[in-house]
Amino acid sequence: MKKALIILMAIYSGNIFSHGSEKHDELETKKQKEKNDNSLIINLGEEYKGQIKPIFARSCFDCHSQKTNYPWYYNLPYIKDMIDKDISDALSHIDFTNDFPFVGHGTPQSDLTYIKKSINEFRMPPKSYQYLHPSAKLSEKEIEIINSWIESAMKRLKD
Ligand code: HEC
Repeated sequence: MKKALIILMAIYSGNIFSHGSEKHDELETKKQKEKNDNSLIINLGEEYKGQIKPIFARSCFDCHSQKTNYPWYYNLPYIKDMIDKDISDALSHIDFTNDFPFVGHGTPQSDLTYIKKSINEFRMPPKSYQYLHPSAKLSEKEIEIINSWIESAMKRLKD
């Protein structure tokens, strides 16, 4: 009788332990994943700052950041309103002020998808802006650099 009780206790406690360690493993895996996710976002942010930000600063920041360089004609009648409207429109879509991950509508993935589309369809920077800011035009090489960073970022964000 005593022996049976000991066996029963051993099985019971064994169950508790194995259950407990399972929970523990799950928690560890989750923690590890979060850690990886965070370090991925941090790494992508560093890559962005090194490779992409200088290009965006020249081509995009006038409208998609709080760092607008206002042109002299900003103070002309009507022009100010037009520019202000353009900037608030642009910022409502995507704001590059605080680097990656950007402030946008959605996830980092959807922001990256829209950025890629907009530059490959030559919609951004807008033609009308390029007319007065010819240096904002993205070169083929720059589009290539941005595309390959976005592709690599998307792949790693998916894993
Ligand atoms: C002259 C101001 C201006 C500049 C410079 C500019 N944008 Fe925009 N952008 C806008 C405006 C206005 C909108 C919202 C209306 C629209 O979609 O045309 C927008 C929308 C967007 C969108 C979201 C909608 C879409 O079309 O997919 C993305 C992504 C974007 N811009 C990326 C960029 C990038 C990347 C650059 C630089 C390479 C850039 N923009 C430069 C004004 C600008």
